[in-house]
Amino acid sequence: MRFFNFKKLDDLKFEVKHLKLDDVIKFEEKLSKVFEPLKFDELKIGNRFAVHPMEGCDGTLDGKPDELTFRRWERFGAGGAKLIWGEATSVVEEGRANPRQLFLNEKNLKYFAELVKKTRDAHKKIWGDDSDLIIGIQLTHSGRWSYQKPFIVFHNPVVDKLTFIDRKRRTTIPSEYPTVSDDYLEKLEDQFVKCAKLAYEAGFQFVDIKQCHTYLLNELLAGKTRSGRYGGDFSNRTRFIKNVVEKIKSEIGNRIKIASRINVFDCLPFIKDDTGVGKPVEYPIPYVYAFGVNEENPLEPDLTEPIKLVKLLYSLGVKLFNISMGSPYYNPHIGRPYETPPWDGYIQPEHPLVGVARHFKLTAEIKKNLQEDAIVIGTGYSYLRHFLVYAGEANLKEGKVSMIGLGRSALAYPDFFIDLKKNGMLNPSKVCITISHCTNLMRSKHNELGQFPTGCVPRDTVYAKIFKEMKNSQNLV
Ligand SMILES: Cc1cc2nc3c(=O)[nH]c(=O)nc-3n(C[C@H](O)[C@H](O)[C@H](O)COP(=O)(O)O)c2cc1C
Repeated sequence: MRFFNFKKLDDLKFEVKHLKLDDVIKFEEKLSKVFEPLKFDELKIGNRFAVHPMEGCDGTLDGKPDELTFRRWERFGAGGAKLIWGEATSVVEEGRANPRQLFLNEKNLKYFAELVKKTRDAHKKIWGDDSDLIIGIQLTHSGRWSYQKPFIVFHNPVVDKLTFIDRKRRTTIPSEYPTVSDDYLEKLEDQFVKCAKLAYEAGFQFVDIKQCHTYLLNELLAGKTRSGRYGGDFSNRTRFIKNVVEKIKSEIGNRIKIASRINVFDCLPFIKDDTGVGKPVEYPIPYVYAFGVNEENPLEPDLTEPIKLVKLLYSLGVKLFNISMGSPYYNPHIGRPYETPPWDGYIQPEHPLVGVARHFKLTAEIKKNLQEDAIVIGTGYSYLRHFLVYAGEANLKEGKVSMIGLGRSALAYPDFFIDLKKNGMLNPSKVCITISHCTNLMRSKHNELGQFPTGCVPRDTVYAKIFKEMKNSQNLV
């Protein structure tokens, strides 16, 4: 199935109109807002492009950044986006999503400091000044997607059937599987605080307390059926994030800023139908197991609680938000609209532009509910390829977003901003084409390290080679 068939912006506009999305996805060809700087408290961010957190699954087994990590970050640094939102980095060994995920601790600290320094040096080399470049790191616990064993906040009758305790034997979570204890969570709060301190020492300017993509802190937001201090009503479900933010503030003050990437709409798991197209799994109503959904129809967002959450965080001093949605494990089309599905996915059940519009709409709604000095970064732009800058400009102009976040397109085309500055446009032959090979590499575990590194297969020869090796060795396992 081919969705993206747009040679000219007018072709894309035509399809957007045909899909009746033209009140949400707009384009402005006269670029100016994207180049404007932005104030972040006393800091300055030099332009409106942010590199989203993009894990390369390329750390050492003990969680240090390795050769490919440095390469990726330096390319982001040189590229010219003025905010780099560092990737998922675990705060505890057992919370890593894969054996090569970064892990911040005292032993690894100096390597993270080197990562920051090298990224800034790469930026300075091309752009001269790095005083308006902001770099942060995403702190996480992978919860039910931790690679050693799942850590679940509550039993989700739908998602438990898709969460493996033994992938080889295809064994999923049984009903007697334990949930994480309140005690574990309380200690984990301190790990986040400890890592925020380490991040400050490493030279990061902000820490993201990650609450997205159905990892542990996202699941806490959805824990309506959990009993005890961390479950049930909104106040209990946000206890963890409140405690972490307050403890960081009291222990480090304003020396490191606190940010959060938040799922504003978890949606439901999807599986393949007989033709390979995605369809929602069967689910009970009311669906009380997800965040930001209408319980009577969980395919529909309900932003009541996400808005409450961002307002609460803002009142605690959090001013940097990155808005996301969905789960990479069970509904990848929600978070990252694609042309070709990942191998463990399904054909898009909706035109990918519908997914792009959902991102734009929900992000604008969140932004509308925050004060002017809150920075809201949007997601979902990569599907638009080289036209993304025109959609970004339109969104900025209408005040629907503060910065344009780029995920897959930053992997494919890290130097996009150099071209944009020089030529006034992006190069169509360098952009991400959303064929999901980065996700396929991420899902490939059959090498001696238990994880292949990931990057852009069609646009980066380093990863084309890794992909080929991965495919060849696939036949051997
Ligand atoms: C290979 C890969 C790695 C990713 N790593 C992270 C991550 O570490 N943290 C995170 O919040 N999101 C991660 N994401 C999601 C992206 O940041 C982004 O939300 C998603 O790709 C959609 O944005 P895009 O359309 O610009 O690609 C990853 C996505 C991919 C494909």
